[in-house]
Amino acid sequence: MTDALVPERVLPLLRGRFGSPYVYREVCPSTQELLGPGDPEGATAATDEQTAGRGRLGRRWIAPRGRALLVSVLLRPDRLEAAPQLSLVAGLALARAVEEAAGVSCALKWPNDVLVGERKLAGILAEGRAGGVVLGMGLNVGQEAHELPPGDRRAPTSLRVETGRPHDRAELLATLLAALEEAYDLWRGSGLAPLLGELARRDWLAGREVAVGGHRGVAAGIEPDGRLRLARPEGDVLVTSGEVTVR
Ligand code: BTN
Repeated sequence: MTDALVPERVLPLLRGRFGSPYVYREVCPSTQELLGPGDPEGATAATDEQTAGRGRLGRRWIAPRGRALLVSVLLRPDRLEAAPQLSLVAGLALARAVEEAAGVSCALKWPNDVLVGERKLAGILAEGRAGGVVLGMGLNVGQEAHELPPGDRRAPTSLRVETGRPHDRAELLATLLAALEEAYDLWRGSGLAPLLGELARRDWLAGREVAVGGHRGVAAGIEPDGRLRLARPEGDVLVTSGEVTVR
């Protein structure tokens, strides 16, 4: 059985409206560029290899061919100003999908990382384009240890490394799209409120001393509007975005 993301494998596995239309390229610069203004909400692009994959804050996102789930989904929320919250919605969907399809427990590092233990398994890039929000998700699936960037105990990981066995990317994609649709529909109706309990349970930063956006403090939870609360002796501060460094 192949785990390629070709439509013949993916389309029969889809459970809801996300994933239609489905755009697949064997190779492309970035799946973020494959969805256009004419596409409906739920349109999905996936590839086996990106030549110019990008991460947050201008970084590159690199994965060997066929080893990662590289996917973008077009969303058209009514409240575009709340779009940063969609990174959290996608993080929950990724965590739920990985647990369901691979049996691996995940935490979330605000605002956009999915972790196993201390190591990054997946990242999310939400970009305003194509008249909506293109939610890009990169999930490390089949990389062997030597195919991941080296580093300390917080170096990136993959499902292969965590479980010692292969995982079907097409199954993972279908599970992820179903989880994203469910979480997104809830968010669209009621905002983050119904998701806050689970966000708190998965909040990897909670209680850690962090630095973000020029502030230092102890991470003290995610607010109903998606901001990160930092507790400081001089008073709490709410952070909208940025790179969090753990001290
Ligand atoms: C991050 O952690 O910095 C976000 C990484 C997002 C990577 C995904 S892979 C699919 C989509 N296409 C891209 O070029 N980037 C996102």
